[in-house]
Amino acid sequence: MSLTKDEPLTKDEIVAANRESWNEAAAHHREHDQWASLLKGFAEPGFSVLDATMTARLQAIGLEGKAVAQLCCNNARELLSIKNLGSASATGFDFAQEFLDQGRELAAAGGIEADFVQGDINEIPADYDGRFDLAVVTIGVFGWMPDLAQFFATARRILKPGGRLFIYEDHPILNMYDDRDSGGPPQPDESYFRSEPYRTDTGLDYWAEKDYAAKPNYWIFHKMSDVIMALVNTGFAIEDFEEFPHNIGTRGHMENQPHQLPLSYVLVGRKEG
Ligand SMILES: C[S@@+](CC[C@H](N)C(=O)[O-])C[C@H]1O[C@@H](n2cnc3c(N)ncnc32)[C@H](O)[C@@H]1O
Repeated sequence: MSLTKDEPLTKDEIVAANRESWNEAAAHHREHDQWASLLKGFAEPGFSVLDATMTARLQAIGLEGKAVAQLCCNNARELLSIKNLGSASATGFDFAQEFLDQGRELAAAGGIEADFVQGDINEIPADYDGRFDLAVVTIGVFGWMPDLAQFFATARRILKPGGRLFIYEDHPILNMYDDRDSGGPPQPDESYFRSEPYRTDTGLDYWAEKDYAAKPNYWIFHKMSDVIMALVNTGFAIEDFEEFPHNIGTRGHMENQPHQLPLSYVLVGRKEG
């Protein structure tokens, strides 16, 4: 596809460009030590990459007997951890075939049963409607979504009545800051209210933090209020919302500051109606 035009990209063009960029990133992640340690880790029974916050919240909701979906699951490291924590089933959705293949390899390493479904998240086939007790979204998903209401409508569609959407995300205030450590206290270099997509041509190797000449990708800034109101307006009742000072992604250098920014949050919605 050509991305040289000056007028704003359509939602479909953004999604198509991002898919190519994510598929391209998979080979870079495979070269990283973290890939080897995931393969080794999942070979051990009960292995989990989930931190204490996510583990405790999921255990409080209860995983036993639950059909769990992860939306935008990447290599499924979190989904497979949830299965190891005791969910009845695990289904991962993502548009990047290359990452789903990695998820299959991790599942095979541990003999973990999981299903993987490739495609744009908003085009999940109707066969999955009303199938899940719990849908999970973690670390770096919303910024890829040109339309949050559409995303939450999809999540709602695949949940059973009363099913829950569990969100554990980077705090959107982080959009204002470069994700690399430049030394010293973090300084904002973007507006929280930026409305144009943010284009990156240096790739998605956030594991190695290594740039490469990449296909462009587009990141959308969503405010905390956008997330909350899109969730509520799509037919979810908020059951839990908490902001945290701890990093869950690439912002370890922004922890333990004298004037601490929120770095992550948990938001849980229950499907109403
Ligand atoms: C930052 S990763 C999620 C990382 C994961 N939570 C983890 O920590 O390992 C975001 C994922 O969203 C997927 N994605 C982005 N836009 C998507 C779309 N429109 N449909 C399906 N998957 C999408 C990408 O392929 C990528 O795997």
